[in-house]
Amino acid sequence: MTQLSPAQIPAAEGTTAAGGGTTGKADSSKALYGGKSSRRVTVRDIAAAKERGEKWPMLTAYDAMTASVFDEAGIPVLLVGDSMGNCHLGYESTVPVTMDEITILSAAVVRGTKRALIVGDLPFGAYQESPVQALRNATRLVKEAGVGAVKLEGGERSAHQVELLVSAGIPVMAHVGLTPQSVNAYGGYPVQGRGEEAAQQLLRDAKAVQDAGAFAVVLEAVPAELAAEVTRSLHIPTVGIGAGIGCDAQVLVWTDMAGLTGGHVPRFVKQYANVREVLGTAAKDFAEEVVGGTFPAKEHSFR
Ligand code: KIV
Repeated sequence: MTQLSPAQIPAAEGTTAAGGGTTGKADSSKALYGGKSSRRVTVRDIAAAKERGEKWPMLTAYDAMTASVFDEAGIPVLLVGDSMGNCHLGYESTVPVTMDEITILSAAVVRGTKRALIVGDLPFGAYQESPVQALRNATRLVKEAGVGAVKLEGGERSAHQVELLVSAGIPVMAHVGLTPQSVNAYGGYPVQGRGEEAAQQLLRDAKAVQDAGAFAVVLEAVPAELAAEVTRSLHIPTVGIGAGIGCDAQVLVWTDMAGLTGGHVPRFVKQYANVREVLGTAAKDFAEEVVGGTFPAKEHSFR
């Protein structure tokens, strides 16, 4: 049976955040990014943004302090992604990340934020076994960490999981195209959806999670034209990463976006700062002042 997620249930007239969808006039005060509302963003706000044709940004976050910076910057959705494996915990991939790790870091991100919708990722092995296993672990993230939604990878293969979570009242963001938890099966991180057969499968995957009740779907590493076609064919928003300009939203891993990641970053990443250099310089300046005997100065000392 097709479930209606909360995001798909039409809001009563006058309560919808979507002015543009019905009146043709966009109300910028309701915008997900740059709008006036200071309450927590909900999946209904996300649905309204799709109706208005509004684009929105999403970043990952793994700790309270960084999350508070992004929240204050107005980022409406923060993902506590299992990319924490590579970007925060020092693993080689997302595969080793555990429910305990995701739960602790999701709770920190929730505590550090006031407005953003926090989406907690279900790590590898936390939902593939069965819809019931998915429900048990998603419930843990909602109850123990306080996230407003969860994310899981897979299209048709995860549709039953999505359906059960949504019917239990847990909003789900799906993730199709390149699904990094399958790195061992892919033998790397290849672009997905190239060629007619693969493109049709991607469309089927995106439709399957929409029909199962997902409120949004991440499209990772797929050709831009195909992602735009998927976006046009869905009533839920697509969140692109390496999927071109035609998606409703865009997500980047924050350490990539801010230039903290060392070594190789994927081609689709744009670095908006060089935090690695800023931090390295600060650490060296501190070390030199300690070694040179100029820190702490009088103003940093007690009398
Ligand atoms: O884990 C993650 O950060 C993700 C995003 C890249 C979408 O899945």
